[in-house]
Amino acid sequence: MHPETGWTLKPLAPLSTAEFDNWCQLLEERSGIVWREDRKSYLEVRLTSRMRELGIADYDSYYHQVLQGTRGTLEWSHLLDRLTVQETRFFRHPPSFDFALEHLQQRLLAGREALGLWSVGCSTGQEAWSLAMIAADAVRLAGSEVGFSVMATDISRSALTTARQALYSAQAIEPVSPAMRKRYLQAQEDGSYRVSKVLARRMCFARINVLELANLPFSGMDLVFCQNVLIYFRRWQRRSILNQLVERLLPGGVLVLGVGEITGWEHPDMLPVHNDKILAFVRKG
Ligand SMILES: C[S@@+](CC[C@H](N)C(=O)[O-])C[C@H]1O[C@@H](n2cnc3c(N)ncnc32)[C@H](O)[C@@H]1O
Repeated sequence: MHPETGWTLKPLAPLSTAEFDNWCQLLEERSGIVWREDRKSYLEVRLTSRMRELGIADYDSYYHQVLQGTRGTLEWSHLLDRLTVQETRFFRHPPSFDFALEHLQQRLLAGREALGLWSVGCSTGQEAWSLAMIAADAVRLAGSEVGFSVMATDISRSALTTARQALYSAQAIEPVSPAMRKRYLQAQEDGSYRVSKVLARRMCFARINVLELANLPFSGMDLVFCQNVLIYFRRWQRRSILNQLVERLLPGGVLVLGVGEITGWEHPDMLPVHNDKILAFVRKG
């Protein structure tokens, strides 16, 4: 029990409509994530558990703390780690990775001298490391010496910390084929697996909010993966993010999304890939 607030004795207080609206607005403004009414109790649980740790007894005080100065910015980052859905897996959507491998091989055949890949909303890293594995395979299969780099970005600091550690449980690496495990994973004494240094030196992890892509200096991508991120955003916001991602692609580069994550999106520089197992677009050459 917290000495001043007596928190553990109090039942979970419901968020008032005004408080709920304030939190939803803040969350959407800062991260793009739309919080629906049916997830109100989940928000209450998450807020309350953090407030208990801090010894704060009401939602309003906590809301104002989150808004205030550097401390508030840090607190927001902690809270966001708890509010974002970070579910992910190695090779989560296999047809997208099959397509990505083929695409990278074609880029190498076309004479690319280095490959740039980007996992947008990489969570705890499984997607980014999977991309690194297929890029390394594409280079190996082409008998090439070409280099590649993988940008892995997310809004969640704690997810990025896990991603950088490159250490996964035996259960987490199940979707990785035995051949890839042999090439790119090293078994540890405690039964976990570490991604090899050969891939680690190709990775660059960064905290990037997809709402702030306009200020981002990098471009020149051959492959951008953005799966299971945009589903939490409003339709207009998804479109605006996709338009930004297009700007980062090279001619002939591809954007791979999650199937069903956007419908009816068109861009004058992009052509849809005709493969009904995936949702991908190629930048016109
Ligand atoms: C469900 S995970 C998807 C992970 C991976 N892309 C996959 O498909 O397995 C969604 C990720 O999006 C991140 N995210 C949510 N809002 C974001 C934002 N505004 N900017 C960047 N990342 C964001 C979350 O932190 C979370 O790690």
